[in-house]
Amino acid sequence: MKITIIGTGYVGLVTGACLAELGNDVFCLDVDQRKIDILNSGGIPIHEPGLEEVVRRNSAAGRLKFSTDIEASVAHGDIQFIAVGTPPDEDGSADLQYVLAAARNIGKYMTGFKVVVDKSTVPVGTADKVRAVIAQELSSRKDGLPFSVVSNPEFLKEGAAVEDFMRPDRIVIGCDNTTDGERARDLMKKLYAPFNRNHERTYWMDVRSAEFTKYAANAMLATRISFMNELANLADHVGADIDAVRHGIGSDPRIGHSFLYAGCGYGGSCFPKDVQALERTAQEYSLNLQILQAVEAVNNQQKQVLGNKIIHRFGKNLTGRHFAVWGLAFKPNTDDMRAAPSRVLLGELLRAGASVAVYDPVAIEEAKRVLELDFYDAPELLASIRYAENPMDALSGADALAIVTEWKAFRSPDFDKVKSSLKQPVIFDGRNLYDPSVMREIGVEYYGIGRSVLAKA
Ligand code: NAD
Ligand code: UDX
Repeated sequence: MKITIIGTGYVGLVTGACLAELGNDVFCLDVDQRKIDILNSGGIPIHEPGLEEVVRRNSAAGRLKFSTDIEASVAHGDIQFIAVGTPPDEDGSADLQYVLAAARNIGKYMTGFKVVVDKSTVPVGTADKVRAVIAQELSSRKDGLPFSVVSNPEFLKEGAAVEDFMRPDRIVIGCDNTTDGERARDLMKKLYAPFNRNHERTYWMDVRSAEFTKYAANAMLATRISFMNELANLADHVGADIDAVRHGIGSDPRIGHSFLYAGCGYGGSCFPKDVQALERTAQEYSLNLQILQAVEAVNNQQKQVLGNKIIHRFGKNLTGRHFAVWGLAFKPNTDDMRAAPSRVLLGELLRAGASVAVYDPVAIEEAKRVLELDFYDAPELLASIRYAENPMDALSGADALAIVTEWKAFRSPDFDKVKSSLKQPVIFDGRNLYDPSVMREIGVEYYGIGRSVLAKA
């Protein structure tokens, strides 16, 4: 089938490459010439395990093309996926300018029936706006061409995106109950048929419910995390181990083991903005989503937990102190720094007068870019960040180590080396990577999240 992907970022590139892998003829459009140049010269602009191979194989086979040519992109695909960003607006609502710009281009250049698929995460009702924009463009051309707008939200996780796309838990598709909607449903059914061979994974629903499903899923997952983080903070006080509690409750199938890890807060391009956007949607209807407001507030506080523990241990004024930070990306296996908890920790440490040496296996370049923006008003603080070559290099002469991202490389370091590199053996573990009782045995002063009882016992 002929597919166009509008927006070749994390979601667009994965979607385009994976649909090409299934034999489709895919045209990926982006307005960012730099990204398209990287892709056309055989690279990929993001770090995503396994993606480069799929891109290379399908580009070589001629099934996957990258371009900034808008007219050619609209001409190419019978199905047009909109996968552009929907960043938060100033009030937290989803900014739809990129989605609507994509829709406008489709309306402007289409010459035959198109299925327009909203793959971006968009508030309920966006399909109506996309439809209106396309219809307006068509009417200004005095053209009555048929089209249908479909909602097909994406559930991939960064770091496991190719696997998630190729083996989805579910595919959610919302279509209209109109003749054009039926036509769109048939094309979507054909496109996703390879995923449904062994058992049906597609959930068909109306467009609004599909749009809502995406926000509901992310809101539910974010809620679990904030809830566990709040319990972890209490565990620190009452002398319980949140990790034991996690096992204890996760074994109940009604709760399940996933997404119960306490830590230094959730980040990334989805949870923070989607929780906010859902709150704003509710406010448009004069409703307050009180649970989600708390989820957001707890997460904002949780991002400060590591910094607060460090300040509690070393005092408010960290002038002359030096800290090692392992992990900058918002989660392992990605270079994505959007809403990463590391940015909050670095802000706290640097503003309290400390210097830092940071290490991340892949996010260093992206970190340099975003930290320059974070500290644009305080270049002297930027100068207090040293980018280390490897984890051990970051430790040298530090008063303590803080772990923000649970990269595999940090899971079982040589603790003798860690201890001898640090000025004093103090670890603040924002992802509960280590066993506090082992840390105690080997003489490390250890601060996890919700586990201080074991470290002290
Ligand atoms: P991204 O910023 O990585 O990519 C978006 C791309 O769209 C950029 O390359 C940008 O240059 C391009 N673009 C903007 N306007 C354009 C236009 N008019 N025409 C063509 N290209 C245009 O964003 P992302 O992380 O891929 O997210 C895209 C959407 O998918 C968002 O709504 C997001 O919430 C949702 N989503 C993201 C993830 C994730 O893990 N990143 C997962 C599920 C859903
Ligand atoms: C998320 C959703 O999982 C995915 O379905 C959706 O399509 C996009 O948003 P992503 O943001 O890539 O995916 O990462 P995810 O693995 O969900 O982690 C998000 C954040 O939550 C990370 O900062 C992670 O460290 C944190 N997290 C996750 C926890 O703190 N505890 C957990 O138990 C799980």
